[in-house]
Amino acid sequence: VTVVYTLQEYRELLVHVEPALLITDLNLPDGNALSLLSAEPSCPTLVMTSYGDEEIAVRAMKLEVRDQYVKSDLAFREMPRTVDRALREWESLQQAQRAEVALRQSEQRFSTVFHASPVPILIAHLEAGSILDANESCCELLDFPLAELCGKPLDTVLERSLLEEVRRLQGEGRGGRVRDRESWAKTRGGQDRSVTVSLEIIEVGGAPCVLAMVFDLTERKQAEQERLELERRMLHVQKLESLGVLAGGVAHDFNNILVAIIGHADLAIGELPEGVAVRESLSAIKQAAKRAAELSQQILAYAGRGKYVLGRSRWTDIVSELTQLLQSTLSKRARLVLELSDAPSFMEGDATQLRQVAMNLITNASEALDDKDGMITVRTGQCRCDARELSRMVVGAELPSGDYCFLEVQDSGCGMDAATLARVFEPFFTTKFTGRGLGMAAVLGIVRGHAGAIEIESQPGAGTRFRVLLPLAAPAKASDPRGEVEDTWRPQGRLLLVDDEPAVRAVGSKMLERLGFQVETAADGVEAIAAYQAGRFDCVVLDLTMPTMDGAETLKRLRALDPAVRVVLSSGYTESELELRFAGLSASGFIQKPYTLMVLKRAMQAALHPDSLPSASAPQDSGGK
Ligand SMILES: Nc1ncnc2c1ncn2[C@@H]1O[C@H](COP(=O)(O)OP(=O)(O)OP(=O)(O)O)[C@@H](O)[C@H]1O
Ligand SMILES: [Mg+2]
Repeated sequence: VTVVYTLQEYRELLVHVEPALLITDLNLPDGNALSLLSAEPSCPTLVMTSYGDEEIAVRAMKLEVRDQYVKSDLAFREMPRTVDRALREWESLQQAQRAEVALRQSEQRFSTVFHASPVPILIAHLEAGSILDANESCCELLDFPLAELCGKPLDTVLERSLLEEVRRLQGEGRGGRVRDRESWAKTRGGQDRSVTVSLEIIEVGGAPCVLAMVFDLTERKQAEQERLELERRMLHVQKLESLGVLAGGVAHDFNNILVAIIGHADLAIGELPEGVAVRESLSAIKQAAKRAAELSQQILAYAGRGKYVLGRSRWTDIVSELTQLLQSTLSKRARLVLELSDAPSFMEGDATQLRQVAMNLITNASEALDDKDGMITVRTGQCRCDARELSRMVVGAELPSGDYCFLEVQDSGCGMDAATLARVFEPFFTTKFTGRGLGMAAVLGIVRGHAGAIEIESQPGAGTRFRVLLPLAAPAKASDPRGEVEDTWRPQGRLLLVDDEPAVRAVGSKMLERLGFQVETAADGVEAIAAYQAGRFDCVVLDLTMPTMDGAETLKRLRALDPAVRVVLSSGYTESELELRFAGLSASGFIQKPYTLMVLKRAMQAALHPDSLPSASAPQDSGGK
């Protein structure tokens, strides 16, 4: 116990001491003790007054002074118990105050988290199911102002079964907690968002409520979708690329082998007199080898690496030339109806490739008849298409409006369902037992390469109509000198044949000799240079893909030796592609493997005596431009 006598002393004491209890007289020499008391006392206080000072008592009570004493004997005797009681009351009051502060702080924290949370949160009555509160993120997600959202049943925005499950779990005494449930949330506009929802039971103002945390997945899902789509497209491009690599390999090796087969068959036929039976077998070998060459062309065409010799042609001519060949291969039950236009509708393109398009479409039409009676109608003509019509095309929807030459092939066959229709152009997609699934893939590659469009109409059981559109070419300047020109050119001279493949050297030199040339061969670039230095040659036939020194390098060195050297390039790759790779290296001609005697002769003629060729029927344009 510390005793002080004035208010002043008491104040000085307070600097060092925190009293647990204050007992004070009301009237002190330097003032009234009530002035020491404040609304928030730091310790319990007992005030002693003279008897009957009621007014003071009331003021003291207002200032939360615990007890007010009348100075009497009894009061002093009771002092220990009074102090004890005052301290106990003080302690419990302090506890209650601390609890209240803690509660207020906790509520404040919750409110801050609730409103600032980027996760949309809703609170609803567990029993009534009506929404009590929602945070800003939630209002944003659901596109509702808070005022409008409050009071609405929770199931206007969240799946009803979620709340039901929480109630059920709660009823079973299992806590009523639901975690990361995939669901939807409905916005004000009625739009569904993909979300996951977590629910938890909490108490708000003593009532059981449910707290729903909603994680919006819509954007993430969209991004995922876009990623998948991108991946799919990338895979498609990669597929095309690897097919291109495959095609290159096929063209190189396969075509070298075919050079030998076709060449030898050609040579053998030439050595046999007319009418010998074995000539037919040799012709059949040559035909079969040509079909193999066509197959390799199909793959090349799809990969956009097909042989590409620009010329002018008409669908009508292409179809007319084909029909004879087709009669034997089409289904016997098919009735072929031709509705070919006579109009001079010319298009620019590679005639061989365009023939392949017509051929593939008509073959498919025939196969669609499935050995039942049916009709195949082939139409050709010219039409004007506007951008709207073109936008409906499966291929070429982006083309400008204009005049187009069309080829239409319609059949009354089995037709296609949506799943087949979606995949017709996919390489190796086939529904046929012996199909290779390359026909339409090649059509696609060729039509794309010619800046054309494709339209398809098909119904299961109701037949199919394919229409291929190619841009109409501008009218030709000079008149086309068509018709047969007498072949009077007699090959002669010294040639150097350079190829790393022995079979090609063997048959190639024999073919060239048969034509009338003197031939020497070289197995690679080094040998070729040496041979050229040793003796003069009128022309060099040069393979492009060779080990150590390739064709391009050899060509450069030959040029350095003799700027006037004539070189005909030869490759299983295509001329158009080579133009890209060997731009600047002008050659006198190009010959694509595999070649027949006739093609070889024309190529040599174009290189050695271009003036002797009828201008419009040059079989291989030199390409060195
Ligand atoms: N006219 C058509 N009628 C019905 N289905 C067709 C028609 N044209 C194509 N199809 C469908 O498209 C698929 C792919 O055709 P595509 O020509 O590419 O391959 P294919 O004919 O099966 O084999 P191939 O490589 O021998 O041509 C066919 O298997 C067939 O299911
Ligand atoms: Mg086919």
